[in-house]
Amino acid sequence: MIRKFKDNIYEVGARDWDRTLFDELIPLPNGTSYNSYIIKGTEKTALIDTVDPTKKDELINNLKTLGIKRLDYIVSNHAEQDHSGSIPFVLEMFPEAKVVTNEKCKNMLIEHLLVDENKFLVINDNETLSLGDKTLQFLITPWVHWPETMLTYLIEDRILFPCDFLGSHRASSSLFISDEKITYFDAKRYFSEIMMPFRTIIKKHISRVESLDVDYIAPSHGEIYDKPEFIINAYKEWISDDVKNLVIIPYVSMHDSTEEMVKRLIDELVKRNIEVKPFNLVNADIGEIAITLVDAATIIVGAPALLVGTHPAVISAVYLVNALRPKTKFVSIIGSYGWGTKLIEHITSLITNIKPEILNPVLTKGFPKSGDYNEISRLADDILEKHKSLNLI
Ligand code: FEO
Repeated sequence: MIRKFKDNIYEVGARDWDRTLFDELIPLPNGTSYNSYIIKGTEKTALIDTVDPTKKDELINNLKTLGIKRLDYIVSNHAEQDHSGSIPFVLEMFPEAKVVTNEKCKNMLIEHLLVDENKFLVINDNETLSLGDKTLQFLITPWVHWPETMLTYLIEDRILFPCDFLGSHRASSSLFISDEKITYFDAKRYFSEIMMPFRTIIKKHISRVESLDVDYIAPSHGEIYDKPEFIINAYKEWISDDVKNLVIIPYVSMHDSTEEMVKRLIDELVKRNIEVKPFNLVNADIGEIAITLVDAATIIVGAPALLVGTHPAVISAVYLVNALRPKTKFVSIIGSYGWGTKLIEHITSLITNIKPEILNPVLTKGFPKSGDYNEISRLADDILEKHKSLNLI
């Protein structure tokens, strides 16, 4: 599929309609795309990013169909293989091309893809590269989401190519955004899974993007933003320190005791006008959990005891929460044990990246009883008080 973006600018990448997982971890409910852009200047032609190597034939065929006889530059904004993995194949087709990227990315492409060291044109932050009537400018923006990431800005056409940054996972035949509500949700899911750990540094990069005169943001996943302020404002909301009056309860229950506590806590929170989202970790979509973590003021982990510690599904979820570094302010634990456990120590020892206030947990021996229900009401009161202290309610 070749899609004309503007005169002499085409999207020539690939849609991965059937892909269901990224990194063998992140669910892709709508597939994804690996966007790649050809820019024809009066003197030189450049390709911005390539595609996942599984889709290399589509990219190569698109370049042939478009009649590209000579390629001068392959701009690599990011060394991850879903964008760089086809560089060796494009270089085979166009041996004259130079791979344009920063020093860090160059070294990663040599390590990961065995690209010949002599194939590179290394650029620095803010440097420009002329294609004749069109000029590329490179902005080195580390940690969105690897250390070598950069953005490419096409000055005359006011198009920003940010690769992963500001993108979303969706395979779509539309070049431009067709439904802002859907894209908002896709981009938020993508942000929460990929970019949230780098919230602080992203603030700086967003300011830099805002300082440019941008008409289009053309990421390498998902549809193109023809109203850049839409995604910039969404990112500003997500990276802010603001949380919402929302409690997320990831939980597992082996013999219904922990689930009974979760149900009671949900009721108590709803009575207090606190929004709550439970996720049974047995079959939860971790993308949905990640999205909720963007806003939630509080996380309550529902954890049964298993041997000395807790259930591996709980450990996996808490590990992921810690890795995603959400702005959560309060954390607590509810759960049930049979004869003894160190599940609280087990779980809290995994929360090292975020520094929440730990609210008094509620553990019950066996099935919850009236005293345990009182403790759950007390925990709901504690959460209410904490949310009020942040003016969330
Ligand atoms: Fe879409 Fe970090 O690769």
